[in-house]
Amino acid sequence: MTSQPDRPDRDVTVIPVTGGSPYEVRVGRGLVAEIGAALPPAAAKVLVIHAPPLAEQAEALRERLSGRVEVLLAEVPDAEGAKRVEVAAFCWQIMGQTDFTRTDAVIGLGGGATTDLAGFVAATWLRGVAVIQVPTTVLGMVDAAVGGKTGINTAEGKNLVGAFWAPHAVIVDLDLLDGLPQNELLAGMAEVVKCGFIADERILELLEADVRVATDRTSDVFRELVERSIRVKATVVSDDFTEQGQREILNYGHTLGHAIEHAERYRWRHGAAIAIGMVFAAELSHLAGSLASEQVDRTRHILASLTLPTSYPLGRWKTLLATMQRDKKARAGMLRFIVLDGVGRPRVLNGTDESMLFAAYQEVGS
Ligand code: GLY
Repeated sequence: MTSQPDRPDRDVTVIPVTGGSPYEVRVGRGLVAEIGAALPPAAAKVLVIHAPPLAEQAEALRERLSGRVEVLLAEVPDAEGAKRVEVAAFCWQIMGQTDFTRTDAVIGLGGGATTDLAGFVAATWLRGVAVIQVPTTVLGMVDAAVGGKTGINTAEGKNLVGAFWAPHAVIVDLDLLDGLPQNELLAGMAEVVKCGFIADERILELLEADVRVATDRTSDVFRELVERSIRVKATVVSDDFTEQGQREILNYGHTLGHAIEHAERYRWRHGAAIAIGMVFAAELSHLAGSLASEQVDRTRHILASLTLPTSYPLGRWKTLLATMQRDKKARAGMLRFIVLDGVGRPRVLNGTDESMLFAAYQEVGS
């Protein structure tokens, strides 16, 4: 991250998120230069929460903002290691020791786990301070940093403690993807594919037209895919911030995907697990009589073109089902799946017969 002056001619796409606390998602290149302008006017301090691989970018951000505010850095463990109560307590300690007030702000600089933690720390400090999310992964840009779900894990499960806390702003600077390994980028594309199937078929067409261009982080097509996915998410969370209904469609592929992540002890990339989950959800939709087999094939084809997995060992079914049942109980809910009546037409499938679930899984099992 170089210290360049703000460029008034910068090409920025602004995606509004409405609902309870409206905010903007700003997408473009070189947007790190805009973070200062995105801070709440009364902020005197900011706490930048980041993982070790982003130490250099965090330091550059400190230099950039330090004429305007006092900048504190909190380096936290990478990936899911950040989402622990001890790590949140470490951040609260920094805030307590520096008299961090209600008008100050947190910046979450990193992938989905970092922005989940940063949002949670912001939501809980003095009952809520502003958070500016600056995602550095595709997954963070199109999903985790947008929508205000914040949280940490406990020994009993993922995201069991958290809050809905809308960000003050989300800055999606595509230049921040520069250091992201291509396999991480491809894993993040699973959420892009999800947005295509649940709401925006153009996403699927762009991926099918030329997957190499679509996954070239410097291409206009890639930027369009990111923007389209953010628009899908922005529309959904604007209507249903606290997941009373419609927001659930964002869980397409996630019920089985979360069980696979659990079975793999969270060593798999999220996108790889939900890729398999989406094949399962497509097969289930087909068995429920609502999705043509061509769309199931299309699901496999697009995910495979992104080098994402589309099958999982058949013998793991009982374990996966048990995990899904346990997760359901922990959340006092029903075992529910999002299925498709067609591309762009998601719905909830409730109380599904176990034999039908197994039949769908047999198509996924290897
Ligand atoms: N990642 C799904 C949601 O934000 O609701």
